Amino acid sequence: MDRLDKILVSLGYGSRKEVQRLIRDGRVEVGGIVTKDSKQKVNHDDVTVDGEPLDPESLVIVLHKPMHYICSHNDAGRLIYSLLPPRWQHRHPKISTIGRLDSDTTGVILLTDDGALNHALASPKKHVIKVYEAALASPLRGEEVEIFASGALMLYGDDKPCMSAKLTILDSHHAMIELTEGRYHQVKRMFAAVGNKVVRLHRKQFANIHIEDLQEGQYKIISKEDIVF
Ligand code: URA
Repeated sequence: MDRLDKILVSLGYGSRKEVQRLIRDGRVEVGGIVTKDSKQKVNHDDVTVDGEPLDPESLVIVLHKPMHYICSHNDAGRLIYSLLPPRWQHRHPKISTIGRLDSDTTGVILLTDDGALNHALASPKKHVIKVYEAALASPLRGEEVEIFASGALMLYGDDKPCMSAKLTILDSHHAMIELTEGRYHQVKRMFAAVGNKVVRLHRKQFANIHIEDLQEGQYKIISKEDIVF
């Protein structure tokens, strides 16, 4: 049980003043009965606004990230959060991406307001699997498979070699790569280290989560139990 106004503010329904007005205007019901008491202690599940149940208390979202969206709260440009309902951008705690994709990378990105879950999935110690499909500027030579799997590939500026990564060559200019770490620009830097250049990068999978059912820019809510890692 928590204070009605506090719950509504934390879910992004408005500032304290705006939420109090919502309640005064008779748009909020508790257990099916209009309430005018913003300080009333309530259960989240008993509350409706304009007849609609409240947004979930905690959110885990899978989004199919389109090209040219930025995984940041405050950069200039098109932010990934603008693809979500506006109210969700006013929640406390904030919804944040779990790790990041480059602006020109598309594919699976998870977002959540659950700090512990975010931390656990982003932690380098957890070795969460990420699968990418890369299009390359130059033909693959075949030897990249062994180099990426070796666990000895050093990237410029890093002090440790990359962990072993599985590369599957699809055709002369396309490959799938499976990583269990998430270094800055890692896929692009790994291909650069073997003299190639990634011209298109798409993340197909994060942990066990895929996005075959989502168009670019679409999202769905999942539960944290859906994520196996
Ligand atoms: N590796 C990259 O180089 N870019 C991404 O967006 C993700 C992994």
